Amino acid sequence: MRLSRYFLPVLKETPSEAQIVSHRLMLRAGMIKQSAAGIYSWLPLGYKVLKRIEQIVHEEQIRAGHIPMLMPTLQPADLWKESGRYDAYGPEMLRIRDRHDRDMLYGPTNEEMITDIFRSHVGSYKDLPLTLYHIQWKFRDEVRPRFGVMRGREFLMKDGYNFDLTKEAALHAYNRHLVSYLRTYERMGLQAIPMRADSGPIGGDDTHEFLVLAETGESEVFYDSQITDLRFGDRAIDYDSVEECQAVLEEFTSRYARTDETHDAEVFAQIPVERQRVARGIEVGQIFYFGTKYSDAMGALVDDGQGGRVPVHMGSHGIGVSRLVGAIIEASHDDKGIIWPEGVTPFHVGIVNLKQGDAACDGACEDLYKAFTAKGLEPLYDDRSERAGAKFATMDLIGLPWRITVGPRGLGAGVVELTSRRTGESEELSLEAAVARVAEIYAPHM
Ligand SMILES: Nc1ncnc2c1ncn2[C@@H]1O[C@H](COP(=O)(O)OP(=O)(O)O)[C@@H](O)[C@H]1O
Ligand SMILES: [Mg+2]
Repeated sequence: MRLSRYFLPVLKETPSEAQIVSHRLMLRAGMIKQSAAGIYSWLPLGYKVLKRIEQIVHEEQIRAGHIPMLMPTLQPADLWKESGRYDAYGPEMLRIRDRHDRDMLYGPTNEEMITDIFRSHVGSYKDLPLTLYHIQWKFRDEVRPRFGVMRGREFLMKDGYNFDLTKEAALHAYNRHLVSYLRTYERMGLQAIPMRADSGPIGGDDTHEFLVLAETGESEVFYDSQITDLRFGDRAIDYDSVEECQAVLEEFTSRYARTDETHDAEVFAQIPVERQRVARGIEVGQIFYFGTKYSDAMGALVDDGQGGRVPVHMGSHGIGVSRLVGAIIEASHDDKGIIWPEGVTPFHVGIVNLKQGDAACDGACEDLYKAFTAKGLEPLYDDRSERAGAKFATMDLIGLPWRITVGPRGLGAGVVELTSRRTGESEELSLEAAVARVAEIYAPHM
């Protein structure tokens, strides 16, 4: 992409309505535009990041053996009357009446709809285990939408639902989700800590929330500092292995880590004082096992292979896809702007031409552009006739992790400058070496 042809409406002024840094930076970098309280348009740069996050979520769910599909945003109220949640959900649910006076709603989540799909098509234990998921917009009429996309009213969520014959099998599905979530967040450059949580309106006993530590987080969290040393890394995992998945769950949940809802001061006090941490966190996902709550209420039964019909064991598992855009910025920025982790950056590399119109500089930039594109990398080329300072400020604000600066002096010596947004460190390299270096950096993310 050439910046002269792109749509990147950056703001000079810091918007006064934004209370936290991610919201300010998303507005300043031209990523979003509010259309109503808690409802946003995703402008091209924001949309690109959202899509990268979605892509990682898909890849990791499919790797875990979970099956993608798509359910609608609008749902008939009848399904929710069956489960009893139509009345229980309260004013957060946006209720709509269509022209035939039928009660509809904009889905805040999809347990009822997926259970209806399941009972219509699955009747035997032979079709289990089954996990279906989708990434779809949700609407929750939050009392206080705030912090930009972090607490929106309309937001994008991955929600997945497992169906299993037994509690044991459903707990394996729960563990599989935990493992896939650890991988997902790490690929986005985030550390998200699984913490014991409260099940709230979904109901159920087993649930963990995944929290990214950040001062601006809405949840108060209590944990053993040893937990922040854990990394999943790129270890191989067999998602069909009950033992392997259980071992990861134990590794990541055996140390104390809880939100304020489940915090137990007495248990916490048993941790050595120097390891006790009280902090704030952003909830970027949650996994639940809730047994037969919905299958009982809605009659989702299967043959158990022994002559009986039994309700399936279920769980639901969510990732806040749009919230993650804000959470990543909260975790990775400086006073000049965003610093995207390589896994989610909207463009892989920025090219800054210091002397637009100079034949050698223009030619070198075009060569770089072609070379990156040929390697499957997306460059953003600042080809505007702006001062160098303005070009650098834009690149720093929008946060591409790598920048190549092309100027007449360097080119005279056969080099360009490759700069890391994170460290600010630069190295001088030939054009070929610069392209090879950037390609090598992104190899693990392709
Ligand atoms: N209002 C919202 N705006 C943006 N993301 C949200 C919002 N509500 C929930 N999410 C995201 O969706 C994920 C799954 O939702 P869920 O656990 O059902 O939400 P909650 O914990 O708010 O009831 C949450 O972990 C969070 O990351
Ligand atoms: Mg939650």
